[in-house]
Amino acid sequence: MPAYTDRLLSLPEYPLAGIPEKKRELIARGMDVIDLGAGDADLSPPPAVIERISEAVRIPTMSRYGFALGLVEFREAVARFMKRRFGQDFHPIKEIVPLIGSKEGLSHLALAFATKGDYTILPEPGYNSYVGGTLLADATPYKYALRPENGFLIDLDKVPAEVLKKAKVLYLNYPNNPTAAVAPKEYLEEMVRRCKELDILLVYDNAYSELAYDGYVPPSIFEIEGARDIAIEFHSMSKTYNMTGWRCGWACGKQEYVAAVAKVKSFVDTGTFMGIQAAAATALDKCADWIPGNVAEFKRRRDAAVEAWSEAGFPVESPKATMYIWCPLPRNIPSAAFAERLLQDEGVIILPGSAFGPGGEGFFRVSFITSPERLREAAARAGRVLKGMQAKAGDEVRSAVRRPEERQGMARA
Ligand SMILES: Cc1ncc(COP(=O)(O)O)c(C=O)c1O
Repeated sequence: MPAYTDRLLSLPEYPLAGIPEKKRELIARGMDVIDLGAGDADLSPPPAVIERISEAVRIPTMSRYGFALGLVEFREAVARFMKRRFGQDFHPIKEIVPLIGSKEGLSHLALAFATKGDYTILPEPGYNSYVGGTLLADATPYKYALRPENGFLIDLDKVPAEVLKKAKVLYLNYPNNPTAAVAPKEYLEEMVRRCKELDILLVYDNAYSELAYDGYVPPSIFEIEGARDIAIEFHSMSKTYNMTGWRCGWACGKQEYVAAVAKVKSFVDTGTFMGIQAAAATALDKCADWIPGNVAEFKRRRDAAVEAWSEAGFPVESPKATMYIWCPLPRNIPSAAFAERLLQDEGVIILPGSAFGPGGEGFFRVSFITSPERLREAAARAGRVLKGMQAKAGDEVRSAVRRPEERQGMARA
């Protein structure tokens, strides 16, 4: 067998890769598994979307190759959405590129803008296609730790000058996965200004733009003056419309950026099934009234998760957006060990912060993707595991403290 490339070997393990297999094993052992791992809700897409795809599969032309153009109706629906929601105009053909889910586009983007010797700047913890895309492009990721102390924001002033000089891409994602942080408008203004100054492409991942609570309305990066010159924005059908498995999203921005992504894609794929694009167009055009009810269901889950997990020993603030809570752990409990115990002893799947790299240590992510009852049950189980691990850590500390005394005692005797 030919040796693996350095490129392949440089890729870390994908955080969610082993979970379906582990979950199957636990279910086979008769365990009642609660899966709060992926950001993948147990809810249905809008009925109109299901009707539309049911019709679309019966139309023979929908089953043909979409190619890079795809279904023009989808592009036009995206343009209408961007105008209605953010007040921004995009040319449906020149300034929008349909994607097989935003992950696909985010991963491919680096192939167009970064290469060996270049840096990309990305959040850690952060969505894994930023680091994956960078490594597949032979570029070097500069990982910036998102911590509560910095408001989960990247401060370019703290990035070494050498890195800034060679940086080609900055990935920003607000509302943020996994920390659920949101970014103040002044921060986005500063990032646009700095990226222009430094000639760095600002890749704005806006997958959670429609999943926000308590009156918070996430902006588009294009609402920031000057962003058109230096930014490209990614959107997803997955979270807004419970369409994770359908694989449909888009990127938009000025023609030169969008065309570069489209060119890479023209050699690796031939577009999402056009029936899905038709259904996605229906979602964007006809389901604006359906979204608030869906968000209200997520809010019910958020409120239950925040209350139950805080009571269980993981004090979390109520997030303004996303489907995640980012739970802190006591200093002496490593997140991977906690996740493993919670999985093996109690059948609850969460994502340890360390799965996102060292910057995520000290936290774990809970996806509030299931009913309040199950979220409460999972929190109670997690509380038991925490208590057990703390008691054990306490015993170890106590015995470590006792040993020197015992030794002294023995010496005196
Ligand atoms: C921040 C972020 N970006 C992008 C994606 C990818 O979404 P999709 O490929 O389903 O459009 C996700 C999915 O979890 C995400 O959390």
